[in-house]
Amino acid sequence: MFRRRDEYAEPYRIKVVEMLRSTDRPTRERLIREAGYNVFGLPSDVVYIDLLSDSGTVAMSDNQWAGMMLGDEAYAGSRNFYNLRDAVKDIMGFDYVVPTHQGRGAEHILMNVFVNAGDRVLGNMHFDTTEGHILLKGAEPVNCLAEAGYKVSEEADFKGNFDLDLLEAEIKKDVEKVSFVLITITCNNNGGQPVSMENIKGVRKIADKYGIPVFFDAARFAENAYFIKQLEPGYQDKSVAEIVKEMFSYGDGCTMSAKKDALVNIGGFVAFRNAEHYERATEWQVPFEGYVTYGGLAGRDLEAMARGLYEVLNEDYLEDRTGQVRYLGDLLIEAGIPIVRPPGGHGIYIDAKTLLPHIPRHEFPAQALTVELFIEGGIRGVELGGCAFGYKDPETGEDVWPELELVRLAIPRRTYTDRHMMMVARALKAVKERASSIKGLRLVYEAPVMRHFTARFERVE
Ligand code: F0G
Repeated sequence: MFRRRDEYAEPYRIKVVEMLRSTDRPTRERLIREAGYNVFGLPSDVVYIDLLSDSGTVAMSDNQWAGMMLGDEAYAGSRNFYNLRDAVKDIMGFDYVVPTHQGRGAEHILMNVFVNAGDRVLGNMHFDTTEGHILLKGAEPVNCLAEAGYKVSEEADFKGNFDLDLLEAEIKKDVEKVSFVLITITCNNNGGQPVSMENIKGVRKIADKYGIPVFFDAARFAENAYFIKQLEPGYQDKSVAEIVKEMFSYGDGCTMSAKKDALVNIGGFVAFRNAEHYERATEWQVPFEGYVTYGGLAGRDLEAMARGLYEVLNEDYLEDRTGQVRYLGDLLIEAGIPIVRPPGGHGIYIDAKTLLPHIPRHEFPAQALTVELFIEGGIRGVELGGCAFGYKDPETGEDVWPELELVRLAIPRRTYTDRHMMMVARALKAVKERASSIKGLRLVYEAPVMRHFTARFERVE
């Protein structure tokens, strides 16, 4: 089980610092109004603590920066590509690696190799960009998350697990149409919740029965493996490296957003076990990403990824990483703030519907909460609720609202200290104290797709 936060310290010391800017409240009020009450519109240097994303926001290590100096910026065959290929083989067990500019580049390639119009792609819960790529192919994304994964306030281990019966039932609807099964580890969209080894094995078994390939969305693979080590019987005495190897042994390959668990600021890849899959992938890689040994990246980026993949397996690091997320979760629970439980691997998700019950869905409670958190403490989270996932029914014109109305506080890796987490908790406590006086927002501009990035609002007075 997890050690208490006060039983250990950060397993690194800080070598370079970036000064943060603090602003006063009237300035923040003005800035957020000018940004149309949407935190995506804020320049990042007016943000005091930036929890918008854990993607590409990592502090790289001295070892990675040193490796960047060894970047061989060759058009073809740089040594750094071979280092990355060897690291992926050594850590994940996949022979073939296709570098891409980031995770969605990897998804684009995977979908083009495996998905045809009218197909179905089954997963525990597809991430937004994954879903987007499936839809772009004219295929259907299908989520088979177990029921427990949708119950935000109920504690359970492995809330990223598949409902295996549902998975099999979905396959049986039309086996021929299933392109592959995608296991997203950890499951970002319901709170960074892990998937157990038993469940991964179960997915493989069912897929084998029907001859369907299995891929991983591996963005947060090491965090998932660390949860398995802490929570799943039989894994306490295995190293995270061994657990990672076993997890991937049940897959035919993976997509990777290296901006998460490869501890870099940019990059990604697709990896395969099968030479034919690899060849078909390079046919899409070359025109869209770049030649097979760089895929839209510089040699230095490939080197930082190769080194990051090893660093992320360090168990002191993973303890500190997941421990910091849980620390913030505990502070919020203590303050009576409703969050998704248990805390996942990379962030805390606040239930805005419960915190601001007087704001109706069409006035965007989670968006209002992100705005207030910025005004209160200069802290930037992200809305994952009615703005991000709601839409107007094309036939009736009626609003369709998602089940959950959340604000995500994603914690960058190796970047902030626990005292920053204290400041976040403090600001949220202050917001909670004045919750009943917080006003909703009126949507005044929305793009036809992915509206949350550029939406603009006015305050309902
Ligand atoms: N898969 C998962 C599970 C992700 O969380 C993301 C990105 C991607 C794929 C796409 O990768 O951004 O490198 O193209 N998640 C970020 C986030 C954006 O903030 O959660 P990408």
